[in-house]
Order: sequence, then structure tokens, then C-alpha cells
Amino acid sequence: MLGALALAALSCGQRKSDGPVYLDKTKNIEERVEDALSRMTTEEKVALLHAQSKFSSAGVPRLGIPEVWCTDGPHGIRPEVLWDEWDQAGWTNDSCTAFPALSCLAATWDREMSLRYGRAIGEEARYRKKDVLLGPGVNICRTPLNGRNFEYMGEDPYLAGQMVVPYVKGVQENNVAACVKHFAVNNQEVRRTGTSSNVDDRTLYEIYLPAFKAAVEEGGAWAIMGSYNLYNGQFNCHNKKLLCDILKGEWGYDGVVISDWGGARNDDEAVTNGLDMEYGTWTNGLSGGASDGYNSYHLARPYLQRLADGRADIQTLDDKARRVLRLIFRTNMAAETKYGRFTCPEHYQTARDIAAAGTVLLKNEDGVLPMDVPAGGRILVVGENAVKKMVVGGGSSNLKTRYEITPLEALQEAFAGKAEVIWERGYVGDTGTSYNRVDTGQDLSESRDAATLIADAVAAARGADYILFIGGLNKSNNQDNEGTDRLALELPYGQRDVIEALAPLNPHFAVVNISGSPVSMPWADKVPAIVQGWYGGTESGHALVDVLTGVVNPSGKLPFTLPCNLSDGPLKTERQYPGVRDEGNPYYQEYYDEGVFVGYRWYDSQEIPVQFAFGHGLSYTSFSLDEMKVSGRNYSVKVTNTGDRAGAEVVQFYIAPAPCAVARPAKELKGFEKVYLKPGESRTVTFQAKDADLAYFDAEQHKWVAEKGVYQVLAGTASDDIRTGAELKLNKTVVL
Ligand code: BGC
Repeated sequence: MLGALALAALSCGQRKSDGPVYLDKTKNIEERVEDALSRMTTEEKVALLHAQSKFSSAGVPRLGIPEVWCTDGPHGIRPEVLWDEWDQAGWTNDSCTAFPALSCLAATWDREMSLRYGRAIGEEARYRKKDVLLGPGVNICRTPLNGRNFEYMGEDPYLAGQMVVPYVKGVQENNVAACVKHFAVNNQEVRRTGTSSNVDDRTLYEIYLPAFKAAVEEGGAWAIMGSYNLYNGQFNCHNKKLLCDILKGEWGYDGVVISDWGGARNDDEAVTNGLDMEYGTWTNGLSGGASDGYNSYHLARPYLQRLADGRADIQTLDDKARRVLRLIFRTNMAAETKYGRFTCPEHYQTARDIAAAGTVLLKNEDGVLPMDVPAGGRILVVGENAVKKMVVGGGSSNLKTRYEITPLEALQEAFAGKAEVIWERGYVGDTGTSYNRVDTGQDLSESRDAATLIADAVAAARGADYILFIGGLNKSNNQDNEGTDRLALELPYGQRDVIEALAPLNPHFAVVNISGSPVSMPWADKVPAIVQGWYGGTESGHALVDVLTGVVNPSGKLPFTLPCNLSDGPLKTERQYPGVRDEGNPYYQEYYDEGVFVGYRWYDSQEIPVQFAFGHGLSYTSFSLDEMKVSGRNYSVKVTNTGDRAGAEVVQFYIAPAPCAVARPAKELKGFEKVYLKPGESRTVTFQAKDADLAYFDAEQHKWVAEKGVYQVLAGTASDDIRTGAELKLNKTVVL
């Protein structure tokens, strides 16, 4: 007789099998894992652990255990590639929904948006029969120049941690593993496979690990990707301290560690130091081929040899195989079958909502925005990013999307029948239109020189009622792009000259910067309105124009600081960035001498002025924050929409430390809440301060310590706009 619970389980889609336990979906995963493992040969176990193609690994065909299929990630489902090449395979049914870049998601400061993102991209992955989504990325924006900042969630570990958790959960609801990357201290692209990030423990634990920890402990991530770089001298795909001691030891992680593609570098360490699945290109992922490339992987034939001659033990092999089986039973062979959805109106809407919610209004003098254009008027749009399709490019996050609305198209749509929208290029940036054989089909060639382009834009400004400059970075080399870092903080391609030529011509002038990383804006004082846009994906143009026209009230907040100059930042020396090399040493050494002083932690503590601060972002309405009220450890602030439009404010809670044994940042983000309010509406937001929020990581004790003393709990709407605060007195030092 089946019990009531078992019957209920069967009725929601689980099937009792008469076959072996591992096929019985009513059994728990651990039982299924043990049963499957007990039936497998050593060769079959090893075969689970390495790639058989660019994005797949073999399951156990004899037992009907399916292959594992991975996909990039993290902004949409990558087009199918050839078995053994990066080039797309040329399928005609794999054009996905492109979601906004993760820097945009972070800028929403909205956990609900992150959950929607995860659910939608997870559905797309499942529909495409993928088991592992290679994302999200949570490496901290240590330098604005990092080519992959656009794929990450900003400069603050708490913000990144809060935003990654719902994404992971949303993805995994679809029986798709989120593979959180790139673990860890992988904060630059320049020499990414040959640089050791040398970081002290306090900095590691306070700045570079918390978002990964949150993804694992709170998000329950089923996969983690080791990064290309070394940490303290050992490659991260088999870094004992990161993978064995911290991830699988301290955090009790039971999922798989997947190598970055070609990131495993050493037979012995690949076996012993926590790597579970090896992917890549050919034998070492980075260089030339071999006829049986996949068999030559560190976790393939060399592993079998080690097992045969006693250099490797079966317990370690079983641990890896268990993890991969667990992954398979959580995904492809999960109790409940999921089917997903692909390129549906709901996903387009999600992409549009997130892209709009992440758009940051940096400056808005004299109400230049939202755009107010007289009927029958003329809008001049200048800049390449108004027309350039940006979903294609950037490296492994390159996508083939069903469609992509550019800002110019969206403006023409929004003003159809109301105003004329004309476009001038203004400058030439990147005329490329394809990546891995995905082509946007655009023709971006240009024959005019820089002076003529500016002169033409200036001429077109005559008679325009409104001028919009839409520029920024793009996804070509040395911009927001995998494999290279940027070379400067300023806007490239002479955009400053174009902006400065246009600014005096019309007071109705707004600049939109589209980028995935911080740029400097030395022209900021000369223009009345500035918007930070992002790579918004499929619905990019619509979302941006929703904000420019006021259909959506902007509520994004910067997930990183926009400094005035690169030299203002914490990375002062070559040994800090991009690293130095001693003769005879094959690897560059990089020293995180700035310690925990990254982003606003640095600028605040040094009192260095910035162009726009971390957490900054304006609205078309206004908000007031009442004085903070304290009840025990609860710190409450009432926020009121004092303007005449519905909108959202992000109440940000920072803690300023008590004087203590180590140098600490002036304040650190420890809580936030985004509240959507109608005109006149109020809401009270409460932050509950825990001892952990007061603590620093004491490397010597290997413990978090909150020293006794008087702390300040601060609340505001940006890191440089603190409106209220109260004391928190800790009477006794607490060791956590
Ligand atoms: C990237 C990863 C990506 C992988 C597979 C690597 O080059 O660093 O982020 O997931 O390729 O495309």
C-alpha cells in the first residue's frame, strides 16, 4: 500500500518505476545517486567527468543516464555551436530572447527582477534542453577597465550577493543548474589565463567571496565554474584552498565544480583539488588540437592511468561521480519533468521590464527628461549606439536573438505621427556586425572622417527641438568584451568632442551612455541630462525609450562608482594591475594591495570626489526619508513619494564602523529595499542589524569579529546621499 504522501507525490507527476532505484523518480536523489554509482565501471565514472564536445559531456549510455548539456549564459541561451568548434552550427530554431546584461540587472536593485530574470532564462534553457546555464557571474568590479564587468553585478559584495540569489533560484526552478562564475578573484581579462591574483584572506572573505557564498548557501547553486586565473600561485580550476577548503569544506557545497573552458592545467591537481567536470577545447583548452582531444583531458585518460597505477584513489573518483550524478538527477532526470518556454511574449516583457528598471538617471537639470517635444517637432539623435545592435559580440555571452530593437527604432515608434526623428552618426566606433558567425545583418560602414561627422551632426541640430546623444562603449575588443580589458576610462572614438559640440546648441539635450562598465564623464557639467543605459538585449531600445519618454519612471541605481579619473581609483601600481612578472616565472603576479578598499569603499574613505557615486540614481518624482526610528536592532525609515508621479526609490542601509583594530571602509552597504510608491504614498522600510553586519574578517583567527563600540546605521538613497542615521552600541566584542 502506498502512503498518502507517496500517493500525493505520484499524482504530481512523479512516476514510480519498476526498474532500478536510480530510475525511480519517487526516491530521493541521494538514494538514486548511490544506486547508479554502484552499477558503474571506473571507465564510466571517468567518462562523466570530462567533455565529449564543446558543450556536452557523456552520461552513462549503458544505464540510460543522459549526457549533460551546458550553455552560455548569462544573458540568454547561446546559439548551438558545432560539435567541436565555437562557430554557430547554423540552426534556424535557436534564436533566443536576449535579456539585459547582468550589470543592468544589478542596477535594478530589485530582487524580484532578478527572480523574474532567472525564471525566464531558465525556461529558455530548459526548452533548449540544456542542463547547465553558464552563469550568472559575480566577480567584483575591482577595476572599471575589466572587459567583463558587463557580465557581472557591480562593485559591492552585498549587492551582488543579494541579486545573485533569486537569479539562481529562478533558473533552478526549471531543472537547470545555474553555474556561478568565475570562482574566484578573476577581476580582469588581460592575461586572464596567466596571472596570479595574490590576495590576503581578509580581502578575499570580505570582498571577493560573499557573492559566491550567497549563491551557494542561500541560492543553493548546483554548479560553480572555476576561473582561468591563479589565486596565490595555483590555478583556480584546481585550487585547493578555494575549492576543497572553502567551497566544499567551509560552505558544505554538494554541487559540481566545472572548469572554465580549458581552465584545467595539471593532471595531478585536476584530480586531487576539487574539480569535478572538465570542459574546454582540445587538450588544454587553449592551444592546438589533438585527434582524440577529449580523451587527453586531465580528467580523462590521464586520470584512468592514475587510477590504474595507484596514484589516484577510488574515493575521490566516487565523490566526483556522485556530484555529477546529483547534477543529472537534479536536472535532466529530476523527479518532475519541466519543458520550459522559448521566445514568448512573457520573456520579452521580462527583458523589457528589467532593462527599463535598471536604467539610471544620472542627472536631470531643468526637467530636460522625460522628453517633451512639441507636436510636429524634430528630434535629432546622434551616436552609433542609437543604431548598433549590441546583442552580438562580447565573447561567450554573444547571442543570436530573435530580434533586437535599437534605440532609434524605438524612438521612431514612440514618436510616430507626433514628431520627426532623424539620426546622425557623429563618430565611428565599431563597424563590425558579426561574432562566431552570428551576424546582425547591419551595414555600419562609413566613409566620412571625424570632422565631417561632427559637422554633419551640428548642421542637423539646426531646427531640432530636442537632441539626444546615444553613445558609450560596445562589445568589440578593448571595450566591454571578454578576453581584453579597456585601455582608458574615457569614452572612446572622440565621443567627447561630439558631445561638447552639441551641448551648446540646444538646452533640450540629453546624453545616454550605453556601457557595461564605468566610464568617466568630464563633459558632465556641460550637459543638462545624463542617462546610464546598458546592453538591454532584445527589448533594449523599447526599454530605454520607455524611460526617456516617461512611460517608465527611472529607478535604477549605479551598481558601481563612476569615478572622475582612472588615477583617482585604488589601483595605483603595475603590481596591483595588470600585474608584474619576475624573470623566469611563467606567470604574472598581481597583488591586491588595496585590500578591502574597492569602489566606494576607497573613494569614501579617501574622500576623493567622484562623478556619480555608487547607489546614485534619480527619478522623475521625489522622495523624502523621515528620521530613522530605532527599536532594539531594528532601524526603520519611512519613505514618501513627495512628487506627482508613481515611482520607486531604493532605501540603502550602510554601516559605518566603530573605531577598531584594522582599517575599515568609512561605510559598507548592508541592506536595501526598493519600494514602489504612488504619489503621496509612504512605506516604512526596516533594516535589522545583525552582529555579522558589523564584523570584519580577522585572518589570524579565521573568524568574523565585531568589535565592541559605537557603530552608525545610515540610510539614504545613494552612497553619497545619506539622509538619516542612528547609533548602534555593541557592548561586547563578538566573534562569529
Ligand atoms: C568563458 C566562460 C564561458 C566559457 C564557455 C570561457 O571562455 O570564460 O565564461 O562560459 O568560455 O563558453
